[in-house]
Amino acid sequence: MNVTQTYVIPTKTVERQTAPLSNTQTLLMEAEKYLSVLEQEQGTTITMERCAAIRADLEQYGTYWHTREELVYGAQLSWRNSNRCVGRLHWQSLHVQDCRHILTAEGVFQALLEHINYATNGGKIRSTMTVFAPQIPRQPGIRIWNSQLIRYAGYRQPDGSIIGDPMQADFTEMVRRLGWRGAKGTPFDVLPLVIQMPHQAPRLFELPQQAILEVPLEHPDFPWFAELGLKWHALPAVSNMRMEIGGVSYTAAPFNGWYMGAEIGARNLGDSSRYNMLPVVAEHMGLKTKSDRTLWKDLALVELNRAVLSSFAKHGIVIVDHRPVSKQFLLHEQREQSCGRETTADWAWLVPPISGSQCPMFHRNYHNDVHKPNFFYQDDPWSR
Ligand code: ARG
Repeated sequence: MNVTQTYVIPTKTVERQTAPLSNTQTLLMEAEKYLSVLEQEQGTTITMERCAAIRADLEQYGTYWHTREELVYGAQLSWRNSNRCVGRLHWQSLHVQDCRHILTAEGVFQALLEHINYATNGGKIRSTMTVFAPQIPRQPGIRIWNSQLIRYAGYRQPDGSIIGDPMQADFTEMVRRLGWRGAKGTPFDVLPLVIQMPHQAPRLFELPQQAILEVPLEHPDFPWFAELGLKWHALPAVSNMRMEIGGVSYTAAPFNGWYMGAEIGARNLGDSSRYNMLPVVAEHMGLKTKSDRTLWKDLALVELNRAVLSSFAKHGIVIVDHRPVSKQFLLHEQREQSCGRETTADWAWLVPPISGSQCPMFHRNYHNDVHKPNFFYQDDPWSR
């Protein structure tokens, strides 16, 4: 173990120079690279027929269609290769819903409702991904404009303050311009889904309240905490990233795991640029807030996190705290190592936002190399 702290400076990925190759050649190379991973790791025999079929597809359509096995394993590898995710021990348990046949925004919306329902599972959260049709090269792909399937609106007030989640303020203004009428103005209004099919206008879909499992927050020792009226949703489902498998881009492939408590307790509710609850919690706790030296923010932060963890547990909703998560991540590293693979990671994302040095990853070094299949950020469609 290192005694001195070491930081990994995130490396910029340098995409391989593909300039002299045509798009089809690049895709073919990527496809072959992926198939050989599948062969090595899964023992799948890649037949001459499969390679010929991919080539023929590429020549005719400029892209190719993954088999179900290629898609599912590619989705699981995208998770395993996600350097910022600390929950990767469970990568092989990802459940994949293949929705590549869906052609309409209504169909996408129905599939997302099914995703939310299956994944939420009454609180016994299941890691799930729904994959919609891949992007045809040089054409727009299917897009879900929301950053997550479930998010709370943030309403900018005339005085510059924000009711709700400040992180969603731009998105909220945009959906209101698109005609969203559902805004109630509370700090926890669930945003509508914005779904855009290729070459069509984006469409709004309201999520029925009963589809969304939420947890009212209370504290195991402070009765006043429940009066703050805080809550959070049970399902974190990222919906705006592009998944790339064997050169094929899935621009709509929302996926979820379960929450780690600090995501809510430290970041969503604690960040001063989010719900900024530390001053409120500290005041109720009667802490001396004049000087930072009293560590009042740190004390309030711990209590906020205890409230999140105990409330989720009380309602029987899967959540994990940063301590077991860290142990699981180390187990993941060991398993990977025994398969002859190095675990790449983004240190700054892996180390939890509270009690960092208490977690073993804090004392370790990681390479932040990006391997594919993987998830990539894509531009917000409305800002282009
Ligand atoms: N940090 C995000 C949030 O608070 C969720 C990101 C994904 N998290 C997860 N546990 N799978 O909503």
